[in-house]
Amino acid sequence: MSFAHQLTRLSNPRVLFPFVAAVGSVGLAYHYSTRLSFIANETAKAFSNSDEWIDLKLAKSYDVSHDSKVLVFHLPEKDHVSGLVTASCVLTKFVTPKGNNVIRPYTPISDVDQKGTIEFVIKKYEGGKMSTYTHDLKENDTLSFKGPIVKWKWEPNQYKEIALIGGGSGITPLYQLVHQISKNPEDKTKVQLFYGSQTEEDILIKEELDALVKKNPEQIKIHYFVDKASDKWEGNTGYVTKEFLEANLPGPSKDSKIFVCGPPALYKSVSGPKVSPTDQGEVTGALADLGYTKEHVYKF
Ligand SMILES: *[C@@H]1O[C@H](CO)[C@@H](O)[C@H](O)[C@H]1NC(C)=O
Ligand SMILES: *[C@@H]1O[C@H](CO)[C@@H](O)[C@H](O)[C@H]1NC(C)=O
Repeated sequence: MSFAHQLTRLSNPRVLFPFVAAVGSVGLAYHYSTRLSFIANETAKAFSNSDEWIDLKLAKSYDVSHDSKVLVFHLPEKDHVSGLVTASCVLTKFVTPKGNNVIRPYTPISDVDQKGTIEFVIKKYEGGKMSTYTHDLKENDTLSFKGPIVKWKWEPNQYKEIALIGGGSGITPLYQLVHQISKNPEDKTKVQLFYGSQTEEDILIKEELDALVKKNPEQIKIHYFVDKASDKWEGNTGYVTKEFLEANLPGPSKDSKIFVCGPPALYKSVSGPKVSPTDQGEVTGALADLGYTKEHVYKF
């Protein structure tokens, strides 16, 4: 029986600790403390922010709109969780036949406690290398992943209320937030989502979003906007305007926060663009006109 094998049989951490200390080497101690968390029954995490790419197999994919698919990938082990906190994204990578790396960030939509799989909703863009590649993946094909990249670490009741302003596939980190808040009965944060899409058919994960409202109608409110509406559309039309935000937002306060994610045109009109991943830039656009500044707004 191997040395490591014998160690894993020691199920009592109190026996293991002095033993590890006796081994004396930092490297070994680290190694066996990792095993210790296994013995203590902590769920293993697929993503641990290491610099390594991991290949995940596609479990299944299915259409959710005329140009978007949900892709479900197997984590390396059935009892793994992703290891992500809300709100985080991961990097995806594939190598072209010419040997070039194509790398894009994606935010999963699956629950952080989900075991064995991780899910994404991916919209296919005209000429989009990663979205075309991933839409063509078949069951058991692999895609490389790395991460996570934590964008905003949500703490329950971090604010009294938040507003989420999103467009198109920018819904994914906003969905992570509202989903995480809604599943925690201790988290009383009120959430308003303003979600713009081109047409009704372009609204992503609408069923999931509507289910959250149905479950918590006092806590969660969603305003849908579509640019081109059919006659039967009952939501708002056009873009999210300054007037609409003014009428529905509580106004700048340290008790509330606004999260924005969407295409460049949305940032431009609502909040101003992010300068770089580490520089949020000044708040401009509609929110600046309404008195919001940097400390009130987070741009994903
Ligand atoms: C360890 O995990 C298993 C399977 O999830 C569970 O049934 C068991 O109760 C856990 N044990 C402890 C000590 O948490
Ligand atoms: C994918 O892999 C699983 C497990 O190895 C296997 O059962 C299944 O038939 C495979 N599916 C395809 C389409 O190859």
